[in-house]
Amino acid sequence: MKIHVYETYEEMSRNAAEEIIRLLENKPNSVLCIPGGDTPKVMLGFLVEAYKHGRVDFSQAVFIGLDDWVGIGPEDEGSCQQFLNSNFFHQVNAKKENIHFFDTMNENLQDECQKQDEIVKKYSGFDLMILGIGMNGHLGFNEPGVDFSLNSHVIDLDETTQSVGQKYFSKKRVLKHGITLGVNHLLNSRMVFLLANGVKKAEIVKAAVEGPVTNANPASVLQQHENIHYYFDKEAASLLG
Ligand code: GLP
Repeated sequence: MKIHVYETYEEMSRNAAEEIIRLLENKPNSVLCIPGGDTPKVMLGFLVEAYKHGRVDFSQAVFIGLDDWVGIGPEDEGSCQQFLNSNFFHQVNAKKENIHFFDTMNENLQDECQKQDEIVKKYSGFDLMILGIGMNGHLGFNEPGVDFSLNSHVIDLDETTQSVGQKYFSKKRVLKHGITLGVNHLLNSRMVFLLANGVKKAEIVKAAVEGPVTNANPASVLQQHENIHYYFDKEAASLLG
């Protein structure tokens, strides 16, 4: 377990981006997972900038989507897919055929889960999964109470996620269900980065890093990962002992 704490959110984001650039230098066809949400925004900005300066090449990299809101499509503002497309994929040279999102509009979501699990398997798992942490400790949409042995699944979103999730939308939306890769995927990823910034994440970060491993706080499971790197700004890390 490595805990990297930085003075600012920008520093945290730049350092995480530089590690991703290094990984792709060593293994250009790395299999990666990048989360939606506010946390990775500045890191993605650094990656785009590095690409524009010719410092990184995404043409061989494979990207597998982490999670999304069921029923909210790829064009819809607020979906993880829309966020990642506009903040990252549409600005770099990642190949469309190497980007695998959940289709949240598929009527058969079990098929979608199976499809995503098969893709993960086909590429022999992840080289790196980058994760944010929800205010309730969720990873992707692995909500409190989740079974740690699951792969991709559809879940009922808990109340915290339903209300916090409104921040991604300009109008109030009904956010009842999510679709997500499972904790089993995260535990089998060869490396995991958990990113968190801001004082509002300090309590859940402390519980995730120093509290008991329990599915009441899904992020705590990462303590069991052999190659977990936590990237925090000093505010998110402020309660760590
Ligand atoms: C969101 C996403 C997660 C994200 C997490 C933290 O709801 N489903 O993938 O990592 O919650 O979000 P944020 O970075 O906006 O705090």
